Amino acid sequence: MKKILITGGAGFIGSNFATINQDKYEITCLDNFFLGDEKNLANANVKFVKGDACKTEDLEKCGKNFDAVIHLAGTSSAPMFMDDGFAEGYRNSVESFAKTIEFARKSGAKKFLYASTSSLYGNNPLPLLESDSLSDPLNHYSVTKKVYEDTSKCYHKVYPEMDIFGFRFMSVFGKNEESKGKYANIISQFLWDMVRDREIVIYGDGEQFRDFTNVADIVQALTLAIETPENFGNKIYNVGRGESMSLNEIVTTLQKVIGKEAKVKYIENPVKEGYIKGQHADITKISNELGFSPKVSLIDGITEIFENLNIERIKETSSEDFR
Ligand SMILES: NC(=O)c1ccc[n+]([C@@H]2O[C@H](COP(=O)([O-])OP(=O)(O)OC[C@H]3O[C@@H](n4cnc5c(N)ncnc54)[C@H](O)[C@@H]3O)[C@@H](O)[C@H]2O)c1
Repeated sequence: MKKILITGGAGFIGSNFATINQDKYEITCLDNFFLGDEKNLANANVKFVKGDACKTEDLEKCGKNFDAVIHLAGTSSAPMFMDDGFAEGYRNSVESFAKTIEFARKSGAKKFLYASTSSLYGNNPLPLLESDSLSDPLNHYSVTKKVYEDTSKCYHKVYPEMDIFGFRFMSVFGKNEESKGKYANIISQFLWDMVRDREIVIYGDGEQFRDFTNVADIVQALTLAIETPENFGNKIYNVGRGESMSLNEIVTTLQKVIGKEAKVKYIENPVKEGYIKGQHADITKISNELGFSPKVSLIDGITEIFENLNIERIKETSSEDFR
């Protein structure tokens, strides 16, 4: 059985990976509960280490000789870099990346996987292609992810024995987002608002669109990378459904699943600079090279969140907070 380490393993994507793959792999999760929650791992038979991915001594507590290390820890969205979060956001993201990739190689990992983001594309023409030239970064979060990608290029030239995979995740939705509170995906936030009988607040006319991708399909992409043969190289892949849905369509789908009318308030978009109007990925590269094929439809993914909803676990949030 392959041994896998996930930094940020008690977070949204990490805990879904651990739960789905608990019988396939021997999994260790490291998390400092910056945003994650041990409750996310309640149904996962994995080893858990409370610790900081910026600290080599905490990484060493996780063990060694991992077949793959998946780096998901870090400051996981743009709004966290606002105000007081700015310098700490850089420190946490970049330092945890550098410490984890070094730990992975030195402890004998064959593969290192990390989360990049579709935000790197900004408002590039659609569909988004890995070979696109990237415009000026929209925010500090995107800068940190570009650092991950560029660092990986240099790192792999020096240490080609460890394969490296960077994933430009599109807009990820699914179970286990309660601990992210106001930083959760818009689908969860709208659903939570509807369940709590609150208004859904939409910036602009609601026609902005995203490539909403279920977390189980993100897990599929990570798993396919772990299973590649050795000497696969240093790769960057889009992970998405390759199609998009507007916020208005999301509201319509939520109404269908929950069986109730949403109260929607449209407000002028307060984000004047760098707001992404619409995105969807070209997924030809990951489909051809790894055999990726998205499986979970929007309606099935939303139904799953609704059926697993634990209202007590939702932190105090409002969909007005962030986009
Ligand atoms: N969710 C999305 O839509 C999306 C899209 C693109 C990229 N990503 C990236 O994927 C990764 C995982 O995202 P997520 O949605 O699961 O976010 P998340 O915030 O739920 O998960 C990150 C986890 O890392 C932990 N963490 C943070 N800093 C740490 C540190 N120094 N040491 C140990 N643990 C630490 C947090 O407690 C949290 O559990 C992030 O890098 C994020 O930037 C996510």
